[in-house]
Amino acid sequence: MNRFVSDIHSCNVVELTKIHNPAGNITIIQNGSHQPFDVKRVYYLYDVPGGSERGGHAHKNLYQLVVAASGSFDIIVDDGKNKKIVHLNRPNFGLIIVPGIWREIVNFSSGAICLVLASEKYEENDYLRDYSEFKKLKNS
Ligand code: TYD
Repeated sequence: MNRFVSDIHSCNVVELTKIHNPAGNITIIQNGSHQPFDVKRVYYLYDVPGGSERGGHAHKNLYQLVVAASGSFDIIVDDGKNKKIVHLNRPNFGLIIVPGIWREIVNFSSGAICLVLASEKYEENDYLRDYSEFKKLKNS
């Protein structure tokens, strides 16, 4: 997806495979399932102090699938024109974030785990950390 023209309508919640079991459920994410990319990296945010806000950047090429593996939080996605708030609170639902979308993650519940599956390995060059630069990119 082209980061210059991508918009928040491409950032959707997908329902992930869930195997029900009275002894505990399993959710599976593998290449070729619900996310429109192959996974090269997995990371997770945890021990987030109450009131903290994460994110505050966009990516040039990275796709991500974000899951509340435990607890809940809100993700604000912003394409430079429109914003929406997505509340994640179930481990079998995830939000796809496409390239060129500014995101903030807020309202972490205590014990929340924000699991992120990413299409690329970590590369600082892929980040847009300045909101006015981001707006310039989206309006160019
Ligand atoms: P960042 O993605 O800015 O955090 P968040 O969006 O969750 O607030 O990353 C915070 C720091 O961690 C930053 O200095 C880069 C480092 N980092 C890595 O080294 N590798 C990674 O895969 C990630 C996600 C972050």
